[in-house]
Amino acid sequence: MPRHPVEPFRVKVVEPIRIPTPEERERVLREAKFNLFKIPSDKVFIDYLTDSGTGALSQEQWAAMMEADESYAGPRSWYRLKEAIEEFTGYVDPIPVHQGRAAEKILAALYLYEGAKVVSNTLFDTTRGNFKAVGAEIYDIPTPESQSLESEFPFKGNVDLNRLEDLLRGGDVNLVVMVMTNNTGGGQPVDLDNLKEAYSLTRRYGVPLIIDACRISENAYLVKKRNPKYSNWSVKDIVLESFRHSDGAFMSGKKDGLSNMGGFLVLRDPQKRLKAKELLILWEGFVHYGGLSGRDMESLAVGLLQSTDEDYLRYRTGQVAYLTERIREVGWDVMWPPGGHAAYVEVRGALPHIPRENFPAHALAVELYRRGAIRTVEVGSLMFKDAARFEFVRFAVPRRTYSQSHLDYTVEVLEETYRQRDRLRGFRITYEPPYLRHFLAELEPV
Ligand code: F0G
Repeated sequence: MPRHPVEPFRVKVVEPIRIPTPEERERVLREAKFNLFKIPSDKVFIDYLTDSGTGALSQEQWAAMMEADESYAGPRSWYRLKEAIEEFTGYVDPIPVHQGRAAEKILAALYLYEGAKVVSNTLFDTTRGNFKAVGAEIYDIPTPESQSLESEFPFKGNVDLNRLEDLLRGGDVNLVVMVMTNNTGGGQPVDLDNLKEAYSLTRRYGVPLIIDACRISENAYLVKKRNPKYSNWSVKDIVLESFRHSDGAFMSGKKDGLSNMGGFLVLRDPQKRLKAKELLILWEGFVHYGGLSGRDMESLAVGLLQSTDEDYLRYRTGQVAYLTERIREVGWDVMWPPGGHAAYVEVRGALPHIPRENFPAHALAVELYRRGAIRTVEVGSLMFKDAARFEFVRFAVPRRTYSQSHLDYTVEVLEETYRQRDRLRGFRITYEPPYLRHFLAELEPV
């Protein structure tokens, strides 16, 4: 196999992008109060803000969308999606939602309450927000290897099984969530064996284990590549085997569903499913669409099954690995080994003159926009306050969207920035909302 992450597709539709002038970029930054979420995407050249809903659709998805049935009850498109989710997960009777966080809100209502305990390998920020909104306490216990940027440990997304057992033994854990891959911890995969052991522990103590499955196909591919026990398994079977070791799962279809919108919730317990459907009708829509148009459901039905294609996954994870390796070569510290969906640059080593309270990773993110009209996202103290374990800039790669020369351009901008890194300045917050402050915060340079 060539090392080059060559695209297993060719381009059929073209969307122009342009680099705004330096003056435009400066003006846009000021108008956005230095919050990159507030920049119009027309003013961005390469957008690594997120891999969520931003990928290109396949010809099969577009064709299916033309056949969508937009009926309220019993649409053909729902039955197609239902069948695809059942084939993908092995669960029956799935519940559609418009995106992952809608499922999180339902899960919080089903399992949690004031003072309830949730244990996870590291919850994503919306999940954390939804669970905290009902008063739950969150315990993130990633494997100790996840603290090291450099070590070659292949599964830094794992949960710490010793601490998990200690917490379960305490007797008051309500829910365990395994996030696969572990986005907040650097897009790192969870080993299937780690999930299996976690599941056997939760069963022993009678606590439900739910998978956050939004990048489960990428996770499964990395399991196949990094755990020799599974090297002869198909990715599809590794995905199924993962779901078999859970009591339920939710998935944002905007990631490995290869779709612009959509998601689902699956639950083993029929009583919980019934309750979830009642809440769904209240919050999202009828059980045959859950906030989705028929077109969205068609796209997700096709995308879910395409996401386990191994040629695609070789290219996909190859692109992320290529970007991560090249960034490391030009001097920046990165989370290593490369994960499934994004390159993560840890800035503390390179920007020691910017203290954490002035958001060093955000300083780099702003500089990359200023220099190259590249949009990334800070995953550090701005996003997580004191709970931040790293000061990351995340380069989330949209699926099937950018070419290798887009990645090379990105590395060139990073190389220039590295040489002049002493000039970067930190930021202070001038406005922040109570939840998920990074989305709406306003900042100014210090
Ligand atoms: N869980 C994980 C691990 C996620 O990465 C996300 C979203 C969600 C849940 C929520 O799904 O957006 O469909 O409601 N992550 C995006 C990101 C937004 O940029 O990483 P959603």
